[in-house]
Amino acid sequence: MTLQAIKYDNGHLTILDQLYLPHVAKFVPIRSAEDGWHAIKEMRVRGAPAIAIVAALALAAELHTLIAQDKLSPVAEEVQVFIVEKLRYLVTSRPTAVNLSDAAQKLGLIVEAQARERDSTGRSVAAAFLKAAEQMLASDLDDNKKIGHYGAKWIVENALRPGKQKVNILTHCNTGSLATSGYGTALGVIRSLHSSDFLGHAYCTETRPYNQGSRLTAFELVHDNIPSTLITDSMAAALLASRKADISAIVVGADRVAANGDTANKIGTYGLAVLAKHHGVKFLVAAPRTTIDLNTRSGSDIIIEERPASEVTNIKGPREGGNETGAMSMETIRIAAQGIDVWNPAFDITPSALIDAIITEVGVVEKASDGSFHLNAIFEGSPDL
Ligand code: MRU
Repeated sequence: MTLQAIKYDNGHLTILDQLYLPHVAKFVPIRSAEDGWHAIKEMRVRGAPAIAIVAALALAAELHTLIAQDKLSPVAEEVQVFIVEKLRYLVTSRPTAVNLSDAAQKLGLIVEAQARERDSTGRSVAAAFLKAAEQMLASDLDDNKKIGHYGAKWIVENALRPGKQKVNILTHCNTGSLATSGYGTALGVIRSLHSSDFLGHAYCTETRPYNQGSRLTAFELVHDNIPSTLITDSMAAALLASRKADISAIVVGADRVAANGDTANKIGTYGLAVLAKHHGVKFLVAAPRTTIDLNTRSGSDIIIEERPASEVTNIKGPREGGNETGAMSMETIRIAAQGIDVWNPAFDITPSALIDAIITEVGVVEKASDGSFHLNAIFEGSPDL
């Protein structure tokens, strides 16, 4: 059964609370923009596409309630201002992933256009928002399946070793059903390789300090019965040097791809790209076009979120075997020396020079003959990929 972490039906939004995964699958309701903001800020939902979708649907849930309670203003401009202000607030939840601000900007333009229509009302502006927000959920799933297909095809054509029938892939962080509306980006590529019988083995990193790899990606790989192995981040170099592991490609997701191809993704991605270059292994970024930000020229213009020191100094999880009564309760354990200073950037920038190709829902972008990515082509009518 496909893992579904975001459930939405006619104004009712629930999300799988990722703070409890992989130990407990608990869905929590999101009833308003404020609930959505907190769920994103507190990492109950995370991953670039997922936070954009939950933000939009959280506001959709709030609008549904206002309509049901007959509390929505009948004035088109007032509803437009209400929606745009809520979108601005939602964007403040996390800074690095562009999908959230991209979605807010697109939804803002849709409600502005609707409010300008003759005979437009508060209801019609809200209806335009609801339609667009609900469409985002379906489009993202569709895009991920295409990313999976194009990525798997590219890897089989470009990274399969002579005489081999299958590829072994390393991935980082979580880019699957839990980080998107479903299927996933980099994990979607692994799913597609697996379903087409080209996947030998998938390796996932633990992804310190937040452990998206060991908590979430490992959970998805086990859920889907994909042959896979977990490693700590510090084992990646040894894995790439291992003949037995025989890694053909590293595939990661992205939180923001700048116009020149520099990519912000989970901390540790840059190190993996350096290792891939040294070992002659393909390094691929899988991301929908909503993650590509042509307004950001290069990686140095991307704001990197810094997160609390406690994520590095502490670990959280249930006690093995349960508590005295056998019941599971979450515990936090300090692992670092008291008083030590901590630096905890959540993302790093991989320079485009280290990236072999960017896999999108409209095809795989390789570097042009001048050695650079020409990403604007994928936003134009018929991309020449
Ligand atoms: O801090 P997170 O867990 O939100 O970071 C997520 C990542 O870096 C993912 O790799 C990225 O968002 C791609 S999700 C398809």
